[in-house]
Amino acid sequence: MAIDKEVISEIKNSVNIVDVIGEIVSLSRSGRNYLGLCPFHKEKTPSFNVIEDKQFFHCFGCGKSGDVFKFLEEYRNITFMESVKILAERIGVDLAIEAPSQQPSSQNPYQKLFDINQDASKFYHAVLMTTKVGEAAKQYLYQRGLTDEMIAYFNIGLAPDENNYLYQSLSSKYDEDTILNSGLFNLSEQGKLFDSFRNRIMFPLTNENSQIVGFSGRIWAQIDSERKEAKYKNTRSTTIFNKSYELYHLDKAKSIITKTHEAYLMEGFMDVIAAYRAGIENAVASMGTALTPEHVNHLKKFTRKVVLTYDGDSAGQNAIAKSLEVLQDMTVEIVRIPNQMDPDEFIKANSAEELAKLLTQSRISSTEFWLQYLKPENVDNLQAEIAYVERVAKLIARVTSITAQNTYINMVAEILPDFDYFQIEQSVNNERLQVRAASQQTFVRPQESRVVELPVTKNLTAMQRAENQLFHRFLHHDFVLNEFRNRDDFAFENAQLEELYQILCQNGEISDLDLAEMSDDLRQVYYQVLEEHLPEELADDEIIQLENRIDKYRQEQDVRKRSKLIRESSNHGDDDRAMMEFEALIAQRRNME
Ligand code: UTP
Ligand code: MN
Repeated sequence: MAIDKEVISEIKNSVNIVDVIGEIVSLSRSGRNYLGLCPFHKEKTPSFNVIEDKQFFHCFGCGKSGDVFKFLEEYRNITFMESVKILAERIGVDLAIEAPSQQPSSQNPYQKLFDINQDASKFYHAVLMTTKVGEAAKQYLYQRGLTDEMIAYFNIGLAPDENNYLYQSLSSKYDEDTILNSGLFNLSEQGKLFDSFRNRIMFPLTNENSQIVGFSGRIWAQIDSERKEAKYKNTRSTTIFNKSYELYHLDKAKSIITKTHEAYLMEGFMDVIAAYRAGIENAVASMGTALTPEHVNHLKKFTRKVVLTYDGDSAGQNAIAKSLEVLQDMTVEIVRIPNQMDPDEFIKANSAEELAKLLTQSRISSTEFWLQYLKPENVDNLQAEIAYVERVAKLIARVTSITAQNTYINMVAEILPDFDYFQIEQSVNNERLQVRAASQQTFVRPQESRVVELPVTKNLTAMQRAENQLFHRFLHHDFVLNEFRNRDDFAFENAQLEELYQILCQNGEISDLDLAEMSDDLRQVYYQVLEEHLPEELADDEIIQLENRIDKYRQEQDVRKRSKLIRESSNHGDDDRAMMEFEALIAQRRNME
């Protein structure tokens, strides 16, 4: 590893986990800790704690815990080293760390899968560019507005209308596992392998590092009019292709997204391509699935602002409504495309310049979207009008700019025949007062309203607690540790604590690097130890007492085990064994008194 642990601790000590997480999760003070909605699982009541004095987080809902590095790793789906680098940058330290993609390729367990997908894309591209049927497919693409430059940029190809041409071309080069796990081939009932994609225009799908992880194939010629086939077909999920996480074109778009601070999110491949034709290179698309929280987290690595550019039809509008829920903590603007078109249809009906203008200049806020989306079908129905005003008043009250609020109120007044500006303003003001009252309440009495004590004792046996406390003392009082590490009669009963203890004895501490490298379970145990609220000062006979308690619990455990053995032995008719254990038990009991 390229940097040493002092540097890592220094970085960790220079940032406050509350600040880092606070930028992502809205936190409120709760007793000694901070509390918010967990970013790692869906919840309505907050159970995500950030413990400032010990600089770690813990969620009682999903069990995730860790330090500030771990948080970034999980939240942004990056490696430990990348999280170190991000925090180093934050405090103005420039670390020369090699990027993970520069590791020797033999170390990457998925390299063969990347390779076979790369080879397949070369094959498909060659079929498109050099064959007769490829010529026809190219005509189809030209007619859809693509040029050779764009075909090359998007690395588009063609799967031949044959059973197993790809298989024949790749099977000698790859082992069976790679072939079977690539998603490029299917197994027939006769046990033969054949190509998954046949007679389709092929769009390679890449991860953000430009490695090809799969394909989407579009039908383009009506060969088999009998069989109703899906317009687009994607590679099935594989170890390298997760379509709930990957976004089309993100690899090429990411640098422009970072520069422009926004990403266009579209529905289709052809829409991203249309945007590119219009000179807009920061567009990505989810691939035939609804937008997921994973997609959103993926985008958050590069920007906090999304420009939703979905189809103008009603399916597209419903999709916007769904996506807005997933995008809650992002800034969102929405492009409304006229005449129910998608961006690709719009560019065809108009021009590249017109599309560029539409994408950059015809955006509305998410609030305005809701005003139009929720609009009652029949505006003459007073009941529906009232319900609508109640819903949108809530939304408008949350808008921070007063000018914007006025604009929205005007819009609503325009939509509804039976309401004027002042009536709607009245509803908004009522909502606004309630919002303010609620926030003041939490401001004045944060402690009382939302104190959640850490349920440290939850699910822990008395034995585990005692061992945790002893370990806690090891971590914070070197002399206690030094006394124990020279004793060969001491070991923790809990195997995971023992494992941590071995690390501690060997290294004299448990460093951030150690934490990064250990399993999630083990790390969890470590943080459980930290959560023990012990007085800073060590009491005189505390350690002896702890040891005695642990010893007592251990003996009780032995007694329970022996009693069980006795029961089992006599149940099995093994009286001798039962008698022997019984005598041992009596001796032990005497010993304990
Ligand atoms: P659309 O049906 O809107 O297609 O699907 P499109 O983008 O307009 O495609 P063209 O212009 O006809 O070529 C939008 C997206 O949904 C996914 C694809 O990712 C597509 O780009 N999709 C669509 C599928 O996965 N399977 C399908 O059968 C259809
Ligand atoms: Mn289209």
